[in-house]
Amino acid sequence: MKENRTVTLDLKNGQPPIELPVMSGTLGTPVIDVRALAQHGYFTFDPGFTATASCASSITYIDGEAGLLYHRGYPIEQLAYESDFMEVSYLLLYGELPTAQQKVDFEQAITHHGMLHDQVVTVFRGFRRDAHPMAVMIGVTGALSSFYPDAHDVFDPRSREISAHRLIAKVPSIAAWAYKYNIGEPFIYPQNRMAYAENFLHMLHATPCEPYEVKPVLARALDRIFILHADHEQNASTSTVRLAGSSGATPFACVAAGMASLWGPLHGGANEAVLKMLEEIDDVKNIPAVIQRAKDKADRFRLMGFGHRIYKNFDPRAKVMRETCHEVLDALDLMDDPQFKIAMELERIALQDDYFIAKKLYPNVDFYSGIVLRALGIPSSMFTVLFALARTAGWVAQWNEMLTDPAHRIGRPRQQYTGPTRRDYVPMTKRGA
Ligand code: ACO
Repeated sequence: MKENRTVTLDLKNGQPPIELPVMSGTLGTPVIDVRALAQHGYFTFDPGFTATASCASSITYIDGEAGLLYHRGYPIEQLAYESDFMEVSYLLLYGELPTAQQKVDFEQAITHHGMLHDQVVTVFRGFRRDAHPMAVMIGVTGALSSFYPDAHDVFDPRSREISAHRLIAKVPSIAAWAYKYNIGEPFIYPQNRMAYAENFLHMLHATPCEPYEVKPVLARALDRIFILHADHEQNASTSTVRLAGSSGATPFACVAAGMASLWGPLHGGANEAVLKMLEEIDDVKNIPAVIQRAKDKADRFRLMGFGHRIYKNFDPRAKVMRETCHEVLDALDLMDDPQFKIAMELERIALQDDYFIAKKLYPNVDFYSGIVLRALGIPSSMFTVLFALARTAGWVAQWNEMLTDPAHRIGRPRQQYTGPTRRDYVPMTKRGA
């Protein structure tokens, strides 16, 4: 980061003012380097990290006001339409688009790491049949650390690379098996002849009883969904992976921690909530009442799938997802699907409504992704699982970047203490009734 000026902070404590460097990245908001403050007896206070950059990163750039999302400089729209998930994973991990040979080698490496150790089956069998697939994902991904003791050497670049490949390769198998276990069907093994998304859909929907053909249009749509969810800079789950990894923990445990963070309804669970809302609306005629409820300050109800903390313009991923939604429903002859019709009418009315315009509340990626995933035959309990599968590429790239950063230190936030001041222990006999 380039240091180009300083800001002067006068704490008015009788000490000389402090000069704090202002640093600019290649794009985006400059940061004030506050590290020197601790030497002067002060910490900064920013719960929720609304104004704190936790790291320097060259992987993903977001401009929420302008509605921009770039991975390694490439706009998400170009990647979604012209690339594929394997290439985007390579880009996130290595920083550049692969050459033809690099792409072949990468796909080969990922394909040949897809199998799970046979003993992992017994880990699955330890879960209740009705366990949420995210609970199984977190447990099994964490358990992989016991199968790969070599992954503990996180400061060895080759060890990190193999772990990253293993995670990108094995998470689809874990995800599909979490579903199969839940519905009581046999596990389907990965097929090395299939591409990444096709292979995942096959593991999810095939049975050993008969051949199962994955429709190319559906595999392509899922691959695009994976691209759209591959990384999103320092969100809650990515920050969790970085914080867990900052102590030198094994990557399988770090990614399991990221999955735990993603599971929360404020992060990865929103598309499930959109579908629930569409079910509850039930009929297009009920939409005006729903819009009224969303605008009513006294009502806690919100229009699920609208608004975003960062994007105050159209979420660029939502534009692509909207088109994918139309393509998939058209290909599957589902344009008359009642929930899709409700969604389109809701979108139309909300985009014209003064309340939503004034507050810059646009449909977000989750508004459309739930509809697409349902059309692909994926149950809503699996929506966050698919998000985790795609985000694994971003998590391992961010984890790898952190460990190669010369400024890397263990993450250790400070606090403002608000508990009792010093007091002496009171023996039980003197504490009253
Ligand atoms: N419906 C109705 N009103 C809304 C909505 C909504 N979906 N979202 C925000 N608002 C209103 C708020 O009531 C608030 O109004 P006020 O200024 O009169 O108090 C204003 O817009 C700003 O809302 P905040 O909650 O302050 O915005 P914030 O940036 O903190 O929240 C969030 C963003 C959580 C996404 C919010 O818009 C929301 O709850 N949306 C619905 C849930 C959702 O779709 N989440 C998925 C996000 S995308 C993702 O995670 C990949």
